[in-house]
Amino acid sequence: MYRSKVSGVGSYLPEKILSNHDLEKIVETSHEWIVQRTGIVNRHVLADEEGNSDMCVRAAQRALEDANLKIEDIDMICVATISGDYKMPATACLVQKKLGAKNVMSFDLNAACSGFIYSLHIADQFVRTGVYKNVMIIGSENLTRMLNYKDRETCILFGDGAGCFIISRSPEGDKGEIMTSLAHAEGSLYELLWASGGGTKEPISQKVIDTGSQYMIMNGREIFKNATRTMAACCKEAMENTGVTPDQLDWVVPHQANMRITEAVSNFLKFPMERIVSTVHETGNTSSASIPLAFDAAYKDGRIKRGQLIMVTAFGAGLTSGAAILRF
Ligand code: UT7
Repeated sequence: MYRSKVSGVGSYLPEKILSNHDLEKIVETSHEWIVQRTGIVNRHVLADEEGNSDMCVRAAQRALEDANLKIEDIDMICVATISGDYKMPATACLVQKKLGAKNVMSFDLNAACSGFIYSLHIADQFVRTGVYKNVMIIGSENLTRMLNYKDRETCILFGDGAGCFIISRSPEGDKGEIMTSLAHAEGSLYELLWASGGGTKEPISQKVIDTGSQYMIMNGREIFKNATRTMAACCKEAMENTGVTPDQLDWVVPHQANMRITEAVSNFLKFPMERIVSTVHETGNTSSASIPLAFDAAYKDGRIKRGQLIMVTAFGAGLTSGAAILRF
């Protein structure tokens, strides 16, 4: 068995911004309500002529540069997303083509907001067993095209963006290591956050369009409760697996869903908010992209440094959840 590490990080946010004040003109809401309930101020929106794969490519190029690797070094591409360019084929195949990667295993992974942790968990297995040396995992979402802008409970929450990690074999003597990664699901609760129409069970039809069932539907309060419960449980499990205690962690980078959820995680861990990375005010909830986006923001502004001990955790539709602890 080998050890795996995060060798490169990159991200991309589209230029166009949709502010709370912009949303006030679309639905019955207010900047004050959104900030008080969620902490969100802005979210980014992908340009009309672009697709999810274009965001993936930019984030991936930045991560490759950070890892000092070339695309030829990459053995596998996994795109965690619920908002791929097409129903088929996988967005990862478009990314493979656009990056010029040759003949490598490329696939999408649907675990909603936990997708990035799921892909990290998978990459970790492939690298530790020696099957692959460098794996590209991307979390990328174009959620603004999956939202019903008549539903004020969901349309204010989500935004677009992409983030990428390169997971590589950690050389002898290198401190960098993914110490533990884990992922779970509680499928019995799938109806708390879903899009029931437009799939194969209920194909796109006039009825689907009229009822808007192709868009995301959410039971906000129940999701909130489950989010805090499952993220806390996953963090506890990751710390038990490694023997790491909260005071040893330099940073926690949680899924960026809602400031109040992040505060609940902080309370559970008895971990100060100052050492929890939060970008939700600027990005909204970008689902599978949120962890690498937040991680990269803190890395690029100098808060996260190589050698530090970091915990990541997420929950999402499914209901899925997960966590990982890594020495960066
Ligand atoms: O990655 C997972 C994604 N999902 C989440 O993270 C969502 C988790 N849930 C939440 O973040 C919260 O439940 C929300 C932010 C969605 C809602 O906050 P809340 O404190 O749970 O509000 P609520 O649903 O209990 O609604 C309170 C009131 C209601 O009005 P009444 O019935 O008290 O008159 C809502 O109709 O707020 C109203 N409301 C709004 N008002 C202004 C709901 N959405 C809005 C809105 N603007 N956008």
